[in-house]
Amino acid sequence: MDNDGIYGELFDKDFKRLGEFIYTNYGINLYPNKKVLVKSRLQKRLHELGIKTYAEYCDLVLNNDPNHKEAVEMINRISTNKTDFFREASHFDFLSSDSLNNYLSKTGKKKITLWSAGCSSGEEPYTIAMVLSEQKQKIPLFDFEIYASDISTTVLKKAKNAIYPDTAIAQIPMQYRTKYLLKSKDKSKKQIRIAPAIREKIKLFRYNLLSDKPPINKTFDIIFCRNTLIYFDRQTQEKVIANIIAILNTGGYLYLGHSESLINMNFALESVGASIYRKI
Ligand SMILES: C[S@@+](CC[C@H](N)C(=O)[O-])C[C@H]1O[C@@H](n2cnc3c(N)ncnc32)[C@H](O)[C@@H]1O
Repeated sequence: MDNDGIYGELFDKDFKRLGEFIYTNYGINLYPNKKVLVKSRLQKRLHELGIKTYAEYCDLVLNNDPNHKEAVEMINRISTNKTDFFREASHFDFLSSDSLNNYLSKTGKKKITLWSAGCSSGEEPYTIAMVLSEQKQKIPLFDFEIYASDISTTVLKKAKNAIYPDTAIAQIPMQYRTKYLLKSKDKSKKQIRIAPAIREKIKLFRYNLLSDKPPINKTFDIIFCRNTLIYFDRQTQEKVIANIIAILNTGGYLYLGHSESLINMNFALESVGASIYRKI
C-alpha cells in the first residue's frame, strides 16, 4: 500500500478548515487547486506524528495546539520558499547606484538599517550584504545592518547555517565569490559557505508579516519585501504594506518582487524603479 492509502483522503471539509486557519493566521491563500500539493507536503508530518488521517491532523492544529507548536511545523511545510542569490538583479544595481549616495547625503546618515522581510533561506539578505560591503569600501565611514525575517523556522535555520550547494552561486559575480564565499575543505561536498564578515551583518528572526506588532524597536531605511505578497490577497497585501511603510523612514526605499505592484493602492510612496518605491 502506498502512503496515500495509509493516510486516506484530505477531504474538502478538512482542507477548508486548514485553509481558513492558514489564511487567518498567516495570510496565505490555499486555493482549491493547491489541495494535492498541501496533501503531499503534510503527508510526511502525519507519518512523523503517527497520525492516521488528515481529519485528525486538522483537529490537532486547530483545537489541540495551545502553544502553536504544530502550527509552526505546519507552516514550515506549507510555505513556498523559492529564492536565489541576486534574484531580480536590477534591484541590486539600484541599491548600489546613486540612490544610496543621495540618501546618505540627504539624511546625513553614515549607517543604514535594512530589513529583508520574507527572507527565506538567506540568499536575499546575503546578496544585500555583499553588495553593500562593496559600497562600504567606496564610501568613507559608511556602514549598515540587516535584519532578516521569515515565518518558516526551517528556512531560517538554513539562513543561519549559510551553507549552500555550489550550484546556487551561478548568479554571484566572480569578484564577489572570491571575497565573500568560502569553499568547503572537503572537495567532495560541493558546498560553499558565506564568509563570517557577511554572516555577522545579518540578524535573523521569526516574524509573521500579519502581526500588528512591529518586528523590532527600530525603523528602517530600506525594506525588501519581495515575492511574498503574491501569496496574499489584496486586502492582506494592503494591511502588510501599511504596517511595513509605517516603519520605513521618509525618503527610504521599499523593494517588492518584479511581479508585485502597488497599482491602485493609496500609499505615500512614489515609484522610482521596477518594483522600487520611495516613501514620501
Ligand atoms: C518565495 S519566498 C521569497 C524569498 C525572497 N524574498 C525572494 O524574493 O527571493 C517567500 C517567503 O515568504 C515567507 N512568508 C509567507 N508568509 C509569510 C508571513 N505571513 N510572514 C512572514 N513570512 C511569510 C515564506 O516562508 C517564504 O520564505
